[in-house]
Amino acid sequence: MDIILLGPPGAGKGTQAQRLVATRGMIQLSTGDMLREAVAKGTPTGLKAKAVMEAGELVSDAIVSALIGERLDSCVGHGAIFDGFPRTKHQAEALEILLGERDRTLDHVIELVVDEEALVVRITGRFTCANCGASYHDKFHLPKVEGTCDVCGHHEFKRRPDDNEQTVRTRMAEYRAKTAPILPYYEEKGLVRRVDGMGSVEEVAAAIDAILDG
Ligand code: AP5
Repeated sequence: MDIILLGPPGAGKGTQAQRLVATRGMIQLSTGDMLREAVAKGTPTGLKAKAVMEAGELVSDAIVSALIGERLDSCVGHGAIFDGFPRTKHQAEALEILLGERDRTLDHVIELVVDEEALVVRITGRFTCANCGASYHDKFHLPKVEGTCDVCGHHEFKRRPDDNEQTVRTRMAEYRAKTAPILPYYEEKGLVRRVDGMGSVEEVAAAIDAILDG
């Protein structure tokens, strides 16, 4: 089963994708993670993407579509979760071609419906384990033992450079202007399922499970 998780910054796409990886053996294809990896390694793609990401704007369609194409080949025999891709009509069309070339089809586009103001709080409080990437939050999900990752026991944590309020608001504006308009494209195909993204992580997870098992 191949699905898209769609929603503005902080809607919980990454959180829910990680859970589906753990519970269903699906593979998470996050263009944000791929780009951050490229930036950290200083690859040509990373060098092009760094300033764009820090400004909260969208990286070029050609770059992200190429990244997805490369990673899709490692998904044979597994369902793919597209997290943060597609983000424009052009990317949606590119995805259809990439899937078709591999005899895959999209099963669901799950839109996480959220309140943007609450998302600013979610995003600006977010931090992750510097070692294993486990996700935490200053208000909603602190490590059980202060300063120690629940998953791997590591003691260092990091925050994303684009998780400040000003950049978050630009990212949201980009979502409204360029990504939300792809919903009608998928609605026409009868693929859109809506989930209330303002519930707890467990409630959102249960709603997504009901769609995947339905
Ligand atoms: P990307 O990494 O995709 O960021 P994003 O879409 O802005 O989404 P986030 O990762 O911020 O949020 P999320 O929805 O995954 O939420 P999360 O689960 O972490 O993209 C970053 C940048 O890369 C873009 O700005 C762009 O420059 C570039 N880029 C990436 N893809 C691109 C593309 N396709 N085209 C062009 N450019 C691209 O949750 C957020 C927080 O809330 C966490 O702390 C979490 O613990 C908490 N939380 C989650 N769910 C809940 C809940 N139900 N209740 C309470 N707290 C919750």
